[in-house]
Amino acid sequence: MSALALTAAEVADLRAAFPYFVRHSSEERPPAYLDSAATSQRPAAVLDAEREFLETANAAVHRGTSGAVGAATEAFEGARARVAAFVGASPDEIVWAENATDALNIVALGIGEANAGAGLGVAGSERYALGAGDEILVTEAEHHANLIPWQRLAAKTGAALKFIPVREDGTWTLDDARAAITSRTRIFAFAHISNVTGFIAPVAELAALAREAGALSVLDACQSVPHVPVDLHELGVDFAAFSGHKMLGPNGIGVLYGRPELLAALPPSRTGGSAITKVTMESAEFMPPPMRFEPGTQPVSQVVGLGAAVDFLSGVGMDRSAAREHELVERLVAGIAETPGIRLLGPSDTSQRAALAAVSVDGLHAHDVGQFLDEQGVLVRVGHHCAQPLHRAFGIASSTRASVHLTTTEDEVDRFVDALRGAQRYFGVEVSA
Ligand SMILES: Cc1ncc(COP(=O)(O)O)c(C=O)c1O
Repeated sequence: MSALALTAAEVADLRAAFPYFVRHSSEERPPAYLDSAATSQRPAAVLDAEREFLETANAAVHRGTSGAVGAATEAFEGARARVAAFVGASPDEIVWAENATDALNIVALGIGEANAGAGLGVAGSERYALGAGDEILVTEAEHHANLIPWQRLAAKTGAALKFIPVREDGTWTLDDARAAITSRTRIFAFAHISNVTGFIAPVAELAALAREAGALSVLDACQSVPHVPVDLHELGVDFAAFSGHKMLGPNGIGVLYGRPELLAALPPSRTGGSAITKVTMESAEFMPPPMRFEPGTQPVSQVVGLGAAVDFLSGVGMDRSAAREHELVERLVAGIAETPGIRLLGPSDTSQRAALAAVSVDGLHAHDVGQFLDEQGVLVRVGHHCAQPLHRAFGIASSTRASVHLTTTEDEVDRFVDALRGAQRYFGVEVSA
């Protein structure tokens, strides 16, 4: 990490900007919030932006001609421009979705529509033709959100769903991808950062590999956009998806990025008001992207909140935040490595990982570990983290995951490791050093 990491004093200042941390700080044992990979806390700037919008400018966007509608639309589209800039994209490449799951479904279901007849009349939709003999490639490490939509698309079109198996430590390499991709691969979908192993995929190389093979690359950027600088144009992916609520923003808002010519040719999977140019009793014609994919009343205050979240993150500096989080991940991994009887899922080389660390405690069910940690005020995620195939590859059903963010402290990381050791003692697990 070349950027100067945020200092402890800066982290303390940052925490003061989050009502959640301020409210809990007077407690005897404030919670160690280590579950940002599931959902992050929000700074006052985000909560205030939503509230301010609702109190002063709430109106339907892109509907009607009043000044109020104009102001609300400006706030809505202004946020789109800022979110686009945050990931190195342009506003017409950004589609609002409910969350990353929804964003990935817009692509998979849209390709399904393209194959279900005349592609809803969308010009160029034939570029998405998919059928027997074609392949959709994913990895064994995917979150279900980046797996099940592709399973469904394969089932609908007759394409084969193939996957890159993970190695023992949950990683996979560019060479593994080279071995799996073929001239029949049409879609290659993979996560930038795994939500279980924290493994960072070599995205630019993988996108280039997909391009050479004539396949579309679809990036699940859920765990990367909140934690590391991401420039989607530089990475060269065709589509990408991420969620507002994991990047200090509101729930109910997610983002689909797509290259303009690909969005232009993609049929909408959800249809209805606002997204059309002409409707008769028999048929409909659709607007160009992004509005084609945004039918119905949009979550405007959430969009405004997400705009404030990217302003906040940009103000901190993603490079400095990533450098800080890298130090925290190193501390997490070191603490785990020093604790016998605990298996780290994912690479032990911290240069290959970011954002989180999940573990399996020998002799203990993750839910018992989670309950013990909860009693210690250490808030983590236990379960399969929506990645059952990956857990199956590890030979376990569930794990315990601690995830960091720019507000996480060293003390919180240490409390996690201490609590794991405490769980071993509490449940009488015998560990040999
Ligand atoms: C890697 C990854 N992909 C997709 C998702 C789905 O995100 P959401 O539930 O916000 O749609 C998550 C959420 O945990 C995730 O971690």
